[in-house]
Amino acid sequence: MSIIIPIRNDMGATPSRLKTPPGATLSSLPPLSVYVHVPWCVRKCPYCDFNSHAAPGEIPERAYLDALRSDLEQALPSIWGRQVVSVFIGGGTPSLLSSAGLDELLAMLRACLNLWPDAEITMEANPGTAEAGRFRDYAASGVTRFSLGIQSFDDAQLKKLGRIHDSAQARAAIEMAQRAAPRVNLDMMFALPGQTLDACVADLGQAVAFGTEHLSLYHLTMEPNTVFAKFPPEDLPDVDTSAAMQDAVEAELAAAGLARYEVSAYAKPGARCRHNLNYWEFGDYLGLGPGAHGKLSFHDRIVREARLRSPESWMQAAMARDGSHIAESRQVGPDELPFEFMLNALRLKDGVAATAFSERTGLSLAAIAHQLEAASKRGLLDADPTRLRATPLGWRFLNDLQEMFL
Ligand SMILES: C[S@@+](CC[C@H](N)C(=O)[O-])C[C@H]1O[C@@H](n2cnc3c(N)ncnc32)[C@H](O)[C@@H]1O
Ligand code: SF4
Repeated sequence: MSIIIPIRNDMGATPSRLKTPPGATLSSLPPLSVYVHVPWCVRKCPYCDFNSHAAPGEIPERAYLDALRSDLEQALPSIWGRQVVSVFIGGGTPSLLSSAGLDELLAMLRACLNLWPDAEITMEANPGTAEAGRFRDYAASGVTRFSLGIQSFDDAQLKKLGRIHDSAQARAAIEMAQRAAPRVNLDMMFALPGQTLDACVADLGQAVAFGTEHLSLYHLTMEPNTVFAKFPPEDLPDVDTSAAMQDAVEAELAAAGLARYEVSAYAKPGARCRHNLNYWEFGDYLGLGPGAHGKLSFHDRIVREARLRSPESWMQAAMARDGSHIAESRQVGPDELPFEFMLNALRLKDGVAATAFSERTGLSLAAIAHQLEAASKRGLLDADPTRLRATPLGWRFLNDLQEMFL
């Protein structure tokens, strides 16, 4: 068995097995979200494998927004008439967009999409690019939730992580964001180079002190093709220490009212991220922008797509309006759906209603009856037949549980 560590949810990245199956039959379509990828950062962090690129001075905002409009318009036929429940503008560093640029982006989404009046609209921001006026402008344009890349409040750690900001800028950004928008998430990482258990708990304590209502907490991982993969920090905490950090932090956060509701997400009551919940509940999402992934359901099939990763190639191809900006579009087979569904649903501490399996995959629960029974016998899956939920043991060994549905 292997222990699950809280790693980032990669916006719909899936195993790339190719199958040509008969289609699923869905009686109703799931909620639809929209993800918009902004691919530039001031500088590339040494641990990061996101599709993010050091900006060449000024970002090419005009060309980006034109390409985004073209990408969106070409996607509209696949989502006609559907209501959009949430938008997530992620990156990269979306806070590199000017106030006017972000306003144009949201106006474009509002004009083309049937955006729910109460939609959650999240924007990621880096404290190194934060200005109070711009946060206020973003919120006035419609952003309801900021997600700040804080990582740590320890200046020495921020240096080692190659961040462009210090802890004072991180604190200032939190205050600006909290003043500007009703909801704020803090992205933090743990198991940092040389970090002790006490230092880790103290770091998270600082996040709590801001009264934050939502935290995303990730175990620092060495991702392939990053600077850290090539030159790993020497003093990374061992597995036992990082497991102890996870347990200690979870207890501290719970005491502050922030309950862990997903592998890496903690929230106060009512503050869960609706956009990410839709991913984990196997909802639909349209992914716009370079490298963005999407999952779209139709009554007879479920399709996954991915845009070209390179910002320049995506911009050029989107403007050509011939579909060449789509790098991959493939129907997900019925043999892949149980694993894909469980991969997401079991990340949630409360799991999902058992009925969601058929609603979202078009398959009968009987299709996975053997696996459900085996997982339950091993004590990994809750015996309650009305929910699909990992037991505490199953959650600890989540990879093994998820793989039972492969
Ligand atoms: C797209 S970034 C957030 C916004 C912005 N780019 C920033 O960093 O300030 C998403 C988050 O993923 C996490 N992350 C990125 N690479 C990681 C890694 N190798 N291990 C753990 N977490 C990572 C960081 O917490 C980061 O804030
Ligand atoms: S700022 Fe965020 S997206 Fe950009 S390189 Fe750093 S962690 Fe990755």
